[in-house]
Amino acid sequence: MPSIFTLSTLALAALPLLSAAPTSYGSASWTAVDDDTPEVPGWAEGAVTEYPIHASCNHSETALLRQGLDEAETLAAHARDHIHRFGNNSVYYLKYFGKAPTGEAAGWFDKVVNGDKAGVLFRCDDPDTNCATQDGWAGHWRGENGTDESVICELSFTVKWPLAGMCSYGYTVAGSSSSAYFGSDLIHRLYHTDKIGEGVVGHYADEYEECLQLAIDSPEEAVRNSATLRYFALDVYAYDIAEPGVGCTGEPVPAEAEVVVAESTSSSAAVASTTSAPESSTSVAESSSSAASIEVTTSSAAPESTEAATPATAAPASTLATVTTSAGTECHTHADGEVHCV
Ligand SMILES: *[C@@H]1O[C@H](CO)[C@@H](O)[C@H](O)[C@H]1NC(C)=O
Ligand SMILES: *[C@@H]1O[C@H](CO)[C@@H](O)[C@H](O)[C@H]1NC(C)=O
Ligand SMILES: *[C@@H]1O[C@H](CO)[C@@H](O)[C@H](O)[C@H]1NC(C)=O
Repeated sequence: MPSIFTLSTLALAALPLLSAAPTSYGSASWTAVDDDTPEVPGWAEGAVTEYPIHASCNHSETALLRQGLDEAETLAAHARDHIHRFGNNSVYYLKYFGKAPTGEAAGWFDKVVNGDKAGVLFRCDDPDTNCATQDGWAGHWRGENGTDESVICELSFTVKWPLAGMCSYGYTVAGSSSSAYFGSDLIHRLYHTDKIGEGVVGHYADEYEECLQLAIDSPEEAVRNSATLRYFALDVYAYDIAEPGVGCTGEPVPAEAEVVVAESTSSSAAVASTTSAPESSTSVAESSSSAASIEVTTSSAAPESTEAATPATAAPASTLATVTTSAGTECHTHADGEVHCV
């Protein structure tokens, strides 16, 4: 008898959900499934696991945007994994996040990858007409017009680089724009949305050296600083994945470059802009450094930007100025209406 009992128990145990009829063994746990009970949806039912792309993006824009978003997730996932693997034993962690505990930065990266993506919309129809009216905008966050929406202007599809070209095109982490790659550019746009950035990931510092200083002065802000998160993700992807053990950290663009760019545009304006508006001259240098490398892309692939296709060697004043405005500016508008260009 005991052996038969055991056999029946095993048979039932193998089919617990299919066995709706009460058993004769008095085991309540096996009678719990009732034919009349409506099916309970899985806890994650309805989750949106892919960033929505608006129908206003045509086929090639959708394909490029999907690739860029995948690359944003690749960058963010590796940044998270690097933090989990090395913690604050990583020189990169210490450089960008200083004494901050590792959980927060790792969490913001994971949010890009695993956060629910419902409503985090990317669109190509320029509803706020900023692509049409703002010189050199590659896209923008819609702010009060759609806090989870980003507009991607046509320019993005010709000037933003694929992640496979990490450490190419003359790019260095310290010396180039943190939005040069489509993936890192889109991480920036994602952190602007309420859904992903939660109004907390923001602009506490923007330039490379400012970000390194922020790690020392305010590590608790560094772990939620949008630019820091991008620089870190790019730096560790370059070092761990793209050029293993080498990377392409590079050097910040020296301050003199600002003067050179300003002078080549207009020598009299240069004096005014470098003495009275250091912030704007910094942004000129930043945009020109990305613009110079963008020429490599546009000269081979962007038919409409013929003026930017001039070989980089000569770089007369007019070419520099044109490239700067047509491809180099990275702007977005904050909720309070402030336009921010880096
Ligand atoms: C690294 O993290 C540990 C805690 O995990 C902490 O005790 C230590 O002070 C940190 N080191 C630095 C350099 O921040
Ligand atoms: C939101 O829409 C208004 C009205 O069309 C426009 O003036 C404003 O620039 C838009 N905001 C952004 C961030 O584009
Ligand atoms: C899609 O949009 C791009 C502009 O971003 C344009 O150059 C391209 O011709 C469009 N493709 C089609 C098939 O219409």
